[in-house]
Amino acid sequence: MTKVAIIGTGPCGLSMLRAFEQAEKKGEKIPEVICFEKQDDWGGLWNYSWRTGSDQYGDPVPNSMYRYLWSNGPKECLEFADYSFDEHFGKPIPSFPPREVLYDYIIGRVSKGNIKDKIKFNTRVTNVVYNSDKFEVSYQDKANDKISKDSFDYVVVSTGHFSVPFIPEYKGMDSFPGRIMHSHDFRDAEEFRDKNVIVLGSSYSAEDIALQCNKYGAKSVTIGYRHNPMGFKWPKGMKEVYYLDRLEGKKAIFKDKTEQEADVIILCTGYLHHFPFLEENLNLKTGNRLYPPKLYKGVVWQNNHKLMYLGMQDQFHTFNMFDCQAWYVRDVIMGKIQIPNDSEIEKDINKWVSLEEKLENPDQMIDFQTEYTKELHEMSDYPKIDFELIRKHFKEWEHHKVEDISTYRNKAFSSPVTGSVAPVHHTPWASAMDDSMKTFLNK
Ligand SMILES: Cc1cc2nc3c(=O)[nH]c(=O)nc-3n(C[C@H](O)[C@H](O)[C@H](O)COP(=O)(O)OP(=O)(O)OC[C@H]3O[C@@H](n4cnc5c(N)ncnc54)[C@H](O)[C@@H]3O)c2cc1C
Ligand SMILES: NC(=O)c1ccc[n+]([C@@H]2O[C@H](COP(=O)([O-])OP(=O)(O)OC[C@H]3O[C@@H](n4cnc5c(N)ncnc54)[C@H](OP(=O)(O)O)[C@@H]3O)[C@@H](O)[C@H]2O)c1
Repeated sequence: MTKVAIIGTGPCGLSMLRAFEQAEKKGEKIPEVICFEKQDDWGGLWNYSWRTGSDQYGDPVPNSMYRYLWSNGPKECLEFADYSFDEHFGKPIPSFPPREVLYDYIIGRVSKGNIKDKIKFNTRVTNVVYNSDKFEVSYQDKANDKISKDSFDYVVVSTGHFSVPFIPEYKGMDSFPGRIMHSHDFRDAEEFRDKNVIVLGSSYSAEDIALQCNKYGAKSVTIGYRHNPMGFKWPKGMKEVYYLDRLEGKKAIFKDKTEQEADVIILCTGYLHHFPFLEENLNLKTGNRLYPPKLYKGVVWQNNHKLMYLGMQDQFHTFNMFDCQAWYVRDVIMGKIQIPNDSEIEKDINKWVSLEEKLENPDQMIDFQTEYTKELHEMSDYPKIDFELIRKHFKEWEHHKVEDISTYRNKAFSSPVTGSVAPVHHTPWASAMDDSMKTFLNK
């Protein structure tokens, strides 16, 4: 019997497990599936942890999410086609839920069947090598510090790529008297009340962590971009300046001559794709981009078609794109989709990569990833979902952000699955200090 290893139970690993479950429900004979998860529970980044650094076993903590994190895109754009928000919550809910609400939704879909039985928790994959048509997977039972080995026909890597921080160095850091940290270790904006905060970066973490610090009472927030400013109309107490040059004592000096007193530097400088458990010729090496090369249809490893990667792209689309990838990968593994010859594969990858390299603005990037997701969607029996509506929502959302970065989360969108329209949330995001599910749903 074909044997499949899935590594990781974040949204991608759960999509993979769900895809096999759905085929089985239709009476199809599915392969033997074993899933490895190094944490003690599922949900990946959405499974919040107060921990930073390493866990009780000395293993690096993968979690990068923090208190008061709300969805940064409309929930309608990530909705599962086979499990709507209306079905999970029993009523339409607002479009930008906090983390706990989205976690509940992700887990709700997989909790009903026997998916959890396929997962080995607290089990870290330490090594994967390919030998004579099989993958040899070594894994560590963390609690007992015991290494075991097993052999598989296919491996699905769904270990995420927002867990290993990229940490640059700037002149003066070693003598800076305040705190220097990466967004990976950021947990609670309350810590920075009345502080002068410097945020470095110009992407989603920089935007959201800077706004959080402002919302929870930082004295000042200064964002230092490197290439392009985000350019939003920032609320009072925030500014965006050009590139940090150096730190002198407590002073941050930027290349545009801005000088700012600083208590803390938060490096929102992104993450590394990091797969220390994969042998060299299986190892995806890429930056955070919309179409990493060497992945046929964004998922099948070009050099070995039995190795699959899920969710390795930079992401506008998330959960339903992961589903489309997982349904496609399932059908490749189950022999329902044939992989073409090497030159067709090369041609297809090159087509997507060269399109990606020409993208100039967010609208084009949204179009690109929507086209990619739609193509995958059409290749499997993943249920119907309106990707044209999702494309429209993403563009509208981008424009709302440009209009006012403090109010875009107060808007409401319609579901691409059920058509229902979200209610406007009871409290504007800028004054909603309690992000609990109870408060979000029940007022
Ligand atoms: C701060 C932050 C906020 C975000 N907010 C949003 C948002 O609002 N909306 C949105 O749609 N997306 C958001 N994202 C994007 C996020 O990447 C996806 O939503 C999603 O979590 C990706 O799922 P994943 O399964 O690929 O990876 P992860 O969620 O990272 O899950 C990977 C899993 O693999 C496990 N693992 C890793 N290595 C091993 C190993 N060697 N052995 C066994 N298990 C292993 C980890 O423990 C983890 O459980 C956010 C990301 C970050 C960093
Ligand atoms: N729900 C939420 O609200 C929320 C909050 C945070 C993050 N997220 C998600 O988390 C994921 C990761 O986002 P991210 O922002 O952490 O990573 P990212 O999108 O990969 O961006 C990395 C940023 O780091 C900057 N950078 C890299 N090296 C630098 C240096 N030496 N000096 C200054 N800047 C440097 C890059 O700037 P250049 O452009 O100059 O290269 C870029 O702006 C995304 O999927 C995002 O949606 C969501």
